Amino acid sequence: MALGGCSAGDAEPRLEVSGAFIPQPVGDMAGGFLTVTNQGDAADTLTSVTSPLSDDVQIHETKNQKMRQVESFDIPANGELKLQRGGNHLMFMGIKRQPKQGDTVEIELHFEKSDPIKVRVPVESRTHNPATHQGD
Ligand code: CU
Repeated sequence: MALGGCSAGDAEPRLEVSGAFIPQPVGDMAGGFLTVTNQGDAADTLTSVTSPLSDDVQIHETKNQKMRQVESFDIPANGELKLQRGGNHLMFMGIKRQPKQGDTVEIELHFEKSDPIKVRVPVESRTHNPATHQGD
């Protein structure tokens, strides 16, 4: 990277995952929510998610109260990608077990540029919504 002091090629994403949770699922699907913060000077893209809980973890967006699968989510430079209730989210299809509140589920996030990030995601109550829990 040391090309005679030229720093133009040095911009890269610096990603961090926070606030992840999975509401205890009721059927054979589970939702997942988290925030990816990018403190780097380059954008990145969330391209896929893998987990032992499901062989088919999809990424969904919600538009007009309807959700649909998308290929990827952008993570802007010096910005964040928020997956939250009523908006973008992860969707674990055909889950292999029923995780209960207090369990953790391992997931791995894959990005276009950054190395994969592993997260141990806590399972919360069915109605858990951190937006309604200010100051915990
Ligand atoms: Cu969905």
